[in-house]
Amino acid sequence: MMSAVVLVGAQWGDEGKGKITDFLAEKADCVVRYQGGSNAGHTVEVNEEVFMLHLIPSGILYPRTLCLVGNGVAVDMENMLEELDGLKKRGIDTSNLRISKRAPLVMPYHKKIDELEDRTANIGTTRRGIGPTYADKINRVGFRIGDLVDEPAAFVERFKAQVAFKNRIIEEIYQEEGFDYRLLLDQLMDQVGLLKPYLADASLLVYNCIREGKKVLFEGAQGTLLDIDHGTYPFVTSSHPTAGGACVGTGIGPTYINRVLGVAKAYTTRVGEGPFPTELNDATGELLRQRGAEFGTTTGRPRRCGWLDAVVLRYAARVNGLTDLAITKLDVLDTFPRINICVAYHYKGQLLNEFPENSEVLANCNPEYIELPGWQEDISGVTRLEDLPENARRYVAKVEELCGVPSAIVAVGPRRAQTIVQHRLFG
Ligand code: GDP
Ligand code: IMO
Ligand code: MG
Repeated sequence: MMSAVVLVGAQWGDEGKGKITDFLAEKADCVVRYQGGSNAGHTVEVNEEVFMLHLIPSGILYPRTLCLVGNGVAVDMENMLEELDGLKKRGIDTSNLRISKRAPLVMPYHKKIDELEDRTANIGTTRRGIGPTYADKINRVGFRIGDLVDEPAAFVERFKAQVAFKNRIIEEIYQEEGFDYRLLLDQLMDQVGLLKPYLADASLLVYNCIREGKKVLFEGAQGTLLDIDHGTYPFVTSSHPTAGGACVGTGIGPTYINRVLGVAKAYTTRVGEGPFPTELNDATGELLRQRGAEFGTTTGRPRRCGWLDAVVLRYAARVNGLTDLAITKLDVLDTFPRINICVAYHYKGQLLNEFPENSEVLANCNPEYIELPGWQEDISGVTRLEDLPENARRYVAKVEELCGVPSAIVAVGPRRAQTIVQHRLFG
């Protein structure tokens, strides 16, 4: 029986995807990243150890799990090598990692242009070169990691022309120093030499796993509301975190996917600019930030915090076709006497039940809240749903009801053991 699950962030990223992926990876044969790049920061806590993963799938801590970086992932070889090195130094076996030869390469000039462009665009990007890398891919002037090893002479010619072009943008428009093409080339060739053993046809590997009835988990990065098409454009990332991205980002057809798990925090956070209707710029927001340790994994920026937004979750359920939810960080709400959930938006005298298509409209929406009683009890040691305080169970049931999706997992802390399983995802 085939068994493939796509895991997606249901909000604006940092929902705890790393923790849930690691938890499910114990049972998975293969974990696949399908989009994003080192803009992602996925945290996995195992006993006293904390691992921050950016490009490598969060299944890497299980030595028998095949970990794939799909063609949809923007690969920064420098970051990849650093991450591999860090894991190896901590005794983690990375020999089960494979990287698609079709993955677009993040070049040093992409990072530079990302920084320069964001000075006027003000998206608040992670400066990891993500937007410019995908822009070049779509514009057909990018490079794939496999280009450096198969037919390198053709690569060198195209690369030389591309560096000259990018230098004109950097030097003439931004009056900053460009790049020396020879130095870049040497650097890239050294890096790809070290990564060569990991390069493979990832699409074929995923396909074979699925055909053999193995358990495959697709690990989304970012979140639904950061999707380039379905998110809060232009305050989004440049890839497709939504479930459909798993197919194009790995090269397998939609008929192979069985379930889609949406990971949602019990409240909401967002890093960077853009509309956020339930944001709390007060002591309650600050309390969520402190209790939830809401500071960026990749950039260290404080995350903006607010109540749970069920309009967002209903939308995420729709555009991803969610079959299951993982509700994370429920323990962060332990001390709150009352908890709000946004159920609709007020916009210019109207009540909106559906997530608006325009970010300017969203920026002018005010939340309609329902208030639920808190439980004011430490739940971080609870391992079974029936042992949660009644009000915590009611909160979970309310979230399920509002978005019409049952929860498979409830997380009450960052560790593996702090995970309540309601139903299994792999057949
Ligand atoms: P990701 O990008 O979706 O993987 O999420 P991040 O790793 O960026 O941020 C989630 C943070 O919350 C990490 O520090 C996790 O260790 C932590 N975390 C995950 N689940 C829980 C939970 O249920 N409770 C608490 N208190 N922390 C959690
Ligand atoms: P994970 O996988 C939260 C945000 C940035 C910025 C916008 C565009 O850890 O959930 P980019 O560098 O992608 O061009 O930045 O997207 N962003 C994230 N926010 N979690 C992430 O990843 C993010 N990756 C990008 O803050 O607002
Ligand atoms: Mg993160």
